[in-house]
Amino acid sequence: MRLVLLGPPGAGKGTQAVKLANYLGVPHISTGDILRRNVTDHTDLGKKAKAYMDKGQLVPDELVIAMTERRLKEPDAKKGFILDGFPRTLGQAEALLKLTKLDAVISYFLEPEELIKRNTGRRVCPKDDTVYHILTNPPKKPGVCDKCGTPLVIRADDREDVVRKRVETYEKQTAPLIKYYRDRGLLREVYASGLIEEIFLRTIEALKA
Ligand code: AP5
Repeated sequence: MRLVLLGPPGAGKGTQAVKLANYLGVPHISTGDILRRNVTDHTDLGKKAKAYMDKGQLVPDELVIAMTERRLKEPDAKKGFILDGFPRTLGQAEALLKLTKLDAVISYFLEPEELIKRNTGRRVCPKDDTVYHILTNPPKKPGVCDKCGTPLVIRADDREDVVRKRVETYEKQTAPLIKYYRDRGLLREVYASGLIEEIFLRTIEALKA
């Protein structure tokens, strides 16, 4: 299964991608996670990407397309993938079309104020990228990753002003992809409000449609 997950920041793409990857037995490829890893490791790509990410803007297409192309050529992606956070522009969508065929595109949607609450309450594990929420998806022990015991951190772009900018960037640059994929018969729309498990079941149903 070759899937793309679209949706505004905080809609729950990453949370659902982990569950879908387990269910379908394919890798979860998050361009946000790969970029953050590059920022932490102070790579050339990370140094270039950081300024854009901190401002809630998109990293330039040429950098992200080359990075994703490399990842999709790794052996584990031969059997399929869940692409989370790519494509985000028409240029990226066109590049992806040349690289691989897709089976479906899930587009998650949620009310803007709900997106703000989800992002500002998020905590992440800097070691294994597991995502939590202080109210709706808390770790067993406050402030610590359930899987590896690492202290959780707040993402640099989860400040409310940056979150609002990210939502605006999504509306301007990424939302046009909804029509792009609808026109190609690939789009499945899923309402992202409710329990994590409910949304997972909605996603599976949407994939059967
Ligand atoms: P990225 O990391 O992709 O961020 P995003 O798209 O803004 O998405 P988020 O990770 O914020 O949210 P999500 O939808 O995955 O939600 P999550 O599951 O975490 O990108 C970050 C930056 O990198 C971009 O701004 C850009 O600069 C750059 N970038 C990345 N890809 C790029 C590209 N292709 N081109 C250019 N630049 C790129 O859930 C959110 C919270 O809600 C969590 O706390 C979670 O626990 C909680 N939650 C999840 N589901 C539920 C639920 N059902 N009920 C209650 N709480 C829930």
